[in-house]
Amino acid sequence: MNQPLHIDSICIKTGEYPNHSHVLPIYPTSTYTFDDAEQGGNILSGIEQGYVYSRFENPTSDAVAEKITALESYGLNMPLQAYLTSSGMGAVSVLMLSLLKQGQKVLTHYSLYGGTEEWLNRFLPKLNVEALVIDFDDLNRVEEILKNDNSIGLIHLETPANPTLKCVDIKAICTLAKKYNIKVSVDNTFATPILQQPFALGADFVFHSVTKYLNGHGTTIGGIVLGNDIEFMNTVFKKTFRLMGVNSNPFDAWLVMNGLKTLSLRMERHCMNAQKVAEYLSSKHQIQTVNYLGLINHPHHLLAKQQMKDFGGMLSFDLKGGISAGRKFINQLQLCVKAVSLGTVDTLVSHPASMTHVNIPSAERQKYGITDGLIRVSVGLEYADDIINDFESALSVL
Ligand SMILES: Cc1ncc(COP(=O)(O)O)c(C=O)c1O
Repeated sequence: MNQPLHIDSICIKTGEYPNHSHVLPIYPTSTYTFDDAEQGGNILSGIEQGYVYSRFENPTSDAVAEKITALESYGLNMPLQAYLTSSGMGAVSVLMLSLLKQGQKVLTHYSLYGGTEEWLNRFLPKLNVEALVIDFDDLNRVEEILKNDNSIGLIHLETPANPTLKCVDIKAICTLAKKYNIKVSVDNTFATPILQQPFALGADFVFHSVTKYLNGHGTTIGGIVLGNDIEFMNTVFKKTFRLMGVNSNPFDAWLVMNGLKTLSLRMERHCMNAQKVAEYLSSKHQIQTVNYLGLINHPHHLLAKQQMKDFGGMLSFDLKGGISAGRKFINQLQLCVKAVSLGTVDTLVSHPASMTHVNIPSAERQKYGITDGLIRVSVGLEYADDIINDFESALSVL
């Protein structure tokens, strides 16, 4: 076949494995054998290709990293190097520790995932690295900082972001970053490479919590970091990755490979269902606002249309009755699951004010857009009307 494969086929295509195995084998091995001392020496010194130890690399994890690389670089003539990690937080931390130096700052925006925010604001300061958090809608402010503060070591974006689904203009930020020679990393967890390709828009690094849509079935915790500076990824990054021990294990990697096969198909249905659910919620009198990128009144609807292929499976809405309405609503659900996390085949619903953010004072929570009545929904692949019916009965008690 001379034609390049469509991204849908890249998701599904299996590789070539030993003994004509149709499906990727799991290699549950900690170490690898050498033919003789000379070969061991050659492999360890990089003269010869070969596996040494599974904290460094493992064939099952490598096959998954290769598949995600093919998806993130789809249609681009851009070599990437990727490393599969033990979690999304493993991906964030190994990337930042390999890139940043003492005294530097990470320029970032509001509404990051809670773990990333804690990492930037509580952990990195111990290493004398600070986060500078601003509103990235204000591109003049971004440029002013890049022009005047030469301690910026990285710009970090998460788009779309929790809980309001706000987006950042990846292309505009990357253009500014290039002008001032600063690297940009993008957390592409919510969009996946099916809906958004940050490398095409100028990003230098992309990472994911593989736990979410890429696995898709809620069976693993995992992450991945991809970079287009191959020299950096194969030296400084690789060294940090090996020393931190943030490698994925082969069984988790294998589960991710199975999930990836249906990624494109799943994203299509996630988007279709989320649009229907968002439109239904918009008509309900118990709800103040619905945050979904596919609704034309979302402040970043046009930006999302420009940089994403579709609007994704995540939405949130604000119940007029505050905390008690949020609790009542969630406790009434029968089909949808009450849980944190996102991107699984079933619909997951959370009420941050009484669940993930229960110990954070209301005023503090509001700063991050987490109002008392906010409900977050990861819309699943059930029949859309069944999700809507579940929401309808839960809303009827308010
Ligand atoms: C956008 C985003 N990035 C990173 C992470 C961290 O991923 P993990 O839980 O796999 O460590 C999460 C987890 O929810 C997330 O939602």
